[in-house]
Amino acid sequence: TDVVALVPAAGSGVRLGENMPKAFVELAGRTLLEWALDGLSASGALSRVVVVVPDILQDTTSRLVESCVLPVDVVVGGAERTDSVRAGLAVAGTADIVLVHDAARCLTPPSLITRVVEAVGAGASAVVPVLPVVDTMKSVDAHGVVTGTVDRATLRSVQTPQGFDGVTLRRAYDAFPETATDDAGLVERLGVDVHTVVGDAEAFKITTPMDLVLARALVARRTQ
Ligand code: C5P
Repeated sequence: TDVVALVPAAGSGVRLGENMPKAFVELAGRTLLEWALDGLSASGALSRVVVVVPDILQDTTSRLVESCVLPVDVVVGGAERTDSVRAGLAVAGTADIVLVHDAARCLTPPSLITRVVEAVGAGASAVVPVLPVVDTMKSVDAHGVVTGTVDRATLRSVQTPQGFDGVTLRRAYDAFPETATDDAGLVERLGVDVHTVVGDAEAFKITTPMDLVLARALVARRTQ
């Protein structure tokens, strides 16, 4: 089976405030992208990787990925995450299984990556890792006034890697030109069931400066 991971790494990282595209921010001397590639390689579940980056960083990335044990293609992304994934999908070819994994979830344990690939291999067309929601969830109106309390027992927070059989993901991206905050969102619109596997706290997405504090602490613990 040809198992390809698309790694969208073309985001600007404005919310992180580090003045550089997020995937190229460093953690213990290595970029988030390199940490993410380490996790994907260590899973032993992949055939190859397609990394999607900003155009000005394509050459830099090609050098960075030279040490990766997996074959890596580097392609240029777009304005929205969906555009970046679409660009990656175009070079992923006829892969049997496609994972889409945020570079920003760079400390994702290899065991989670394997769990997602195995669930797709066992017959699920789409699989997302999820965790229970810990906070109470409320809806609000345009003035910030609460309009309701959502039953959090029915909610999950969704991580990556999201896994798909290649045919289904390509069909979703062909069918819908619009953007979505995750790839499973497009597959849902096809009416295909999206299955869940248990996520992992360490697969959190580095988004804000506080996330970087947590990531540094985790890396320090791992390299002890
Ligand atoms: O912005 P957000 O944290 O949701 O981004 C999630 C992932 O998608 C990051 O790894 C980011 O680099 C990537 N991304 C991308 N192209 C964009 C926006 C985000 O590849 N236009």
